[in-house]
Amino acid sequence: MKPKAMDKSAQNTFALHPLLKQRWSPRAFSSTDIEPEKIRQMLEAARWSPSSSNEQPWRFILGFKGDETHQKIFSTLVEFNQLWANTAPLLMLAIGNTMSQKKPDQANPAYKYDVGQAVAHLTFQAMSDGLFVHQMGGFDTKKAALLLEVPFGFEVLTALAVGYIGDPEVLHPNLKKSEIAPRERRPLDELVFGKAFGEILSLVKP
Ligand SMILES: Cc1cc2nc3c(=O)[nH]c(=O)nc-3n(C[C@H](O)[C@H](O)[C@H](O)COP(=O)(O)O)c2cc1C
Repeated sequence: MKPKAMDKSAQNTFALHPLLKQRWSPRAFSSTDIEPEKIRQMLEAARWSPSSSNEQPWRFILGFKGDETHQKIFSTLVEFNQLWANTAPLLMLAIGNTMSQKKPDQANPAYKYDVGQAVAHLTFQAMSDGLFVHQMGGFDTKKAALLLEVPFGFEVLTALAVGYIGDPEVLHPNLKKSEIAPRERRPLDELVFGKAFGEILSLVKP
């Protein structure tokens, strides 16, 4: 039986789709394996996300707990992330093609933006299948590129932990507190402007 997801829902001011409200980045994952079909579905979601000039610069490497790829990805994580990421049955690398595939010898300035967006799509497909995704920037991207034989012109951007939600009790004591703490965000009127940058847009005032 899968453990019930903890309620870390957004304390939103305006209404949100339930998947957006319920998404968060857990550190305690269940040891339950992910069904292969669900993995295919979340990768399919990434595949169908939009990209600048339809360049589709995203690439992914998947490591399953117990296999060599999982060990290699895990070995690149900073100490803090190693405290928890081993609870996840799936570790992934999100990689970007820095070069345009349509315009010879030209860089694609949108590759990071597009890979991030593909990961967002992947995240919500995963969530609709009951899974959670935790992205990580805390890892050695150069080491990951070397260990996983990422070719020149491609850049390792983020690592992802994916799985069903787990019991916070499995976590290192230093991490338990943040696992159950409420999530925080800046108010919308600090982020969205009207006449010019910094100018309040009354539409988004609570
Ligand atoms: C690009 C990126 C890098 C991140 N790097 C890490 C990381 O190295 N370690 C970690 O524990 N969380 C990491 N996070 C998770 C963020 O800390 C988390 O998304 C943020 O605190 C908001 O919390 P929420 O996702 O639960 O809403 C990262 C998230 C993103 C999008």
